[in-house]
Amino acid sequence: MVKISVTNLAGQTSEIEAEVGLSLMENIRNNDFDDLAAICGGCCSCCTCHVFVDEESYEKLTEMDEDEQYLLEDSENYHAGTSRLSCQIEVDDSMGGMKVTIAPEA
Ligand code: FES
Repeated sequence: MVKISVTNLAGQTSEIEAEVGLSLMENIRNNDFDDLAAICGGCCSCCTCHVFVDEESYEKLTEMDEDEQYLLEDSENYHAGTSRLSCQIEVDDSMGGMKVTIAPEA
């Protein structure tokens, strides 16, 4: 378990105990953040699991693949350097202290 801070669409921030090995999306959903629709269930085809990751943590993440990049760049809320699809991030022990903000749906 690692502590990750999650901010919802209303601007309220909570700290969750994220389970290593699950995706960031699954961890956010498991902690009752209904703002994160994640309607494709993690298949990288909907962009409704879009989050903004704090810049320091973003730099440490594995690079996104072409499908993720394409979906994000098509979103009007895309911000280079912070935007990721949370279903494409597998939580690991290095992610403690990460801060994520759920992005508005485009
Ligand atoms: S849940 Fe659909 S792209 Fe992440």
